[in-house]
Amino acid sequence: MSLNGKVAIVTGSGRGLGLAYAAELARLGAAVVVNDVDAQTAADAVASIETAGGRAVAVVAPVGPTETAKLLVAAAVENFGRLDILVTNAGVLRDTVLWKMSDDDFDTVIGVHLRGTFTTVREAVLHLREQSEGGRIICIGSPTGQRGNFGQTNYAAAKAGIVGMVRTWALELKRAGITANAVIPVAATAMTATVPYFAAAVEAEAAGEPMPAFFRHDLGFGTSDDVAGLVAYLASDAAAGVTGQAIGVGGDRIQLWSHPEPVVTGYREGGWTYEALEESFGDVFGAELQPVGERFPPLPEELQGASANA
Ligand SMILES: NC(=O)c1ccc[n+]([C@@H]2O[C@H](COP(=O)([O-])OP(=O)(O)OC[C@H]3O[C@@H](n4cnc5c(N)ncnc54)[C@H](O)[C@@H]3O)[C@@H](O)[C@H]2O)c1
Repeated sequence: MSLNGKVAIVTGSGRGLGLAYAAELARLGAAVVVNDVDAQTAADAVASIETAGGRAVAVVAPVGPTETAKLLVAAAVENFGRLDILVTNAGVLRDTVLWKMSDDDFDTVIGVHLRGTFTTVREAVLHLREQSEGGRIICIGSPTGQRGNFGQTNYAAAKAGIVGMVRTWALELKRAGITANAVIPVAATAMTATVPYFAAAVEAEAAGEPMPAFFRHDLGFGTSDDVAGLVAYLASDAAAGVTGQAIGVGGDRIQLWSHPEPVVTGYREGGWTYEALEESFGDVFGAELQPVGERFPPLPEELQGASANA
């Protein structure tokens, strides 16, 4: 199998997307360090991977502090002898509008997502560089980090920051043969289950029925398993030439995101004074000002009932 002999760490992999990533990496032959803050969830995840014929151990510790990052790398090396793949997936939400967001709401989300990604990748890279056999860093972003989202100041900052770090790491780690990519997932999990817009899709999944094509195709919204294939691909030798990318996946859809590029460039000899901008800002940029936020199409009528009940 394509990941035979490889060792992976997946943070926040007790349930949801992280569990799907861990299970898929294990199915393809990797030994996996499962991590979560909840001991039972982590133990259940290890048991399900082992039942399916895979190899896994659990580290129950909160991602964020450097001590946890050290525990994760040590668990990979002590239990399985090496480290090849790190997936930074652990996450929490503390949604509210800016003017109601507390310092704690901000620090908690930044601490788990942004600091947690930084500390675990730094620790993994210290080991991978020493091991000198390349490696794979896969960091989980979000559409919110790419475009912004109402009520998610903290999460938007963390997820945009993660993609910013990935671009930097792709440059810094190239020489060591370590790739760094961001995956931008969308899937039905505990995190999205309460969003009314997705209610019909979440209900279909809970009932064991296929999700309506509107969600899978038009919105790129599906199950956690729909995202796991891309994570496993980026972890494999087949993706050795792929680094510094942000790739969105969900349902039946996959998308390569652009990195921010200037869309309009203007020049004025002597520079852009206030007066010059007052006169010509509209002419230079007028039609090209950029939209923000995700643009969701209206829900088809037959899918609206579930949303109203959610
Ligand atoms: N579900 C989606 O549509 C979606 C979209 C974009 C991004 N994401 C991202 O995907 C990742 C997984 O999300 P999910 O939807 O599976 O959520 P989830 O809530 O189902 O799972 C997150 C897991 O992380 C664990 N966790 C939380 N804090 C932790 C910490 N400090 N250390 C270790 N584990 C911790 C939780 O216990 C849980 O098991 C997150 O980074 C999330 O932001 C999800």
